[in-house]
Amino acid sequence: MQVPYVAFRDWPAGVTQQVEQAVSRVMHEQQFILGPDVKAFEDAFANFLNAGSAIGVGNGFDALVLALKAAGVGPGDEVIVPANTFIATANAVVHLGATPVLAEPDLQTYNLAAATAERHITEKTKAIVAVHLYGQTCEMEQLHKLCKNYSLKLVEDAAQAHGAKYRNHFAGTFGDAAAFSFYPTKNLGALGDGGAVVTSNPELATFIRSYRNYGQQEKYHNELVGVNSRLDTLQAAVLTIKLKYLQQQNEERQRLAKLYLKLLQTINELTLPFTAEHCDHVYHIFNIRTPRRDELKNYLHQQGIQTAIHYPVPIHLQQAYRFLNYRAGDFRITEELANTSLSLPLFPGMTEAEQEYVISCVKKFFV
Ligand SMILES: Cc1ncc(COP(=O)(O)O)c(C=O)c1O
Repeated sequence: MQVPYVAFRDWPAGVTQQVEQAVSRVMHEQQFILGPDVKAFEDAFANFLNAGSAIGVGNGFDALVLALKAAGVGPGDEVIVPANTFIATANAVVHLGATPVLAEPDLQTYNLAAATAERHITEKTKAIVAVHLYGQTCEMEQLHKLCKNYSLKLVEDAAQAHGAKYRNHFAGTFGDAAAFSFYPTKNLGALGDGGAVVTSNPELATFIRSYRNYGQQEKYHNELVGVNSRLDTLQAAVLTIKLKYLQQQNEERQRLAKLYLKLLQTINELTLPFTAEHCDHVYHIFNIRTPRRDELKNYLHQQGIQTAIHYPVPIHLQQAYRFLNYRAGDFRITEELANTSLSLPLFPGMTEAEQEYVISCVKKFFV
């Protein structure tokens, strides 16, 4: 049997047809840039999250850049970022001329905790980026308090956490601004690149809305030197359809995760994902850990099972980040995660047979 790491299946049945109809409608209407479809998606997404505004942008990286810029991050500032995140989080900080200050994650949740972040605060610190890794929110109450105490901006990287909750509030509604990615494999994914900034601060919303469209609110009247990072109308129409199924798809991810957790818990050598108190994990990634990670990955590959590693090379050991002068051993937890993490297939539409096969192969490897 072959099991893909991720596949785009028609789940629940009928979504694909609705998406095709939406694409065809936009093609015929010929309003390809912004317009009512982008507005409709932005409203629906903000409404879903119970947030003030959502502003559609080109991708998750741009969403981070715009969220940080709106929060006032600029040259000379330091921004605290978890050491174990996708490179985009740190790149966005560098892109604004600021310095990412890496901080170790919590070994259980893999997310940045307030106590660790606090140790990195200096006079230059402007903001903290809370990355809700793998689909689980950071403990936002403590991070929120910390930012308040030190007058720092709180920006969320919610690229992996559409629909995840902390104390019953959605990821993306805790900070000054939050960045979402709609990269196709995300819990809410487009048919290409896409992203959004979410904020409940009307001033930030106005800035971002203008900045993403060349700094204009009215065509050819530019109040800012902005950029072009608009969410494609075609993608917005697709996302409006898919948003209707996000909750159901997240519940399916949670059902699959529960089964993995139940059936893999007997393997002592495996560390399984841990859900923190008050968190509603949406399992963008089902991460397991073992010191025999590479061996297990190869074994599963031989059995026809595709897996992934999030992330094999930490930011502080990337060539691109040599200028920060970090060294191997500086972030032991992050390095441990990079060396032991493996992401198992988990996606809406994954069949019972596929999951059973993955579980039986993982078990066979450890006997
Ligand atoms: C945590 C995190 N931040 C940022 C991004 C960047 O999003 P994009 O690929 O849409 O630019 C991603 C995903 O790719 C991500 O996983």
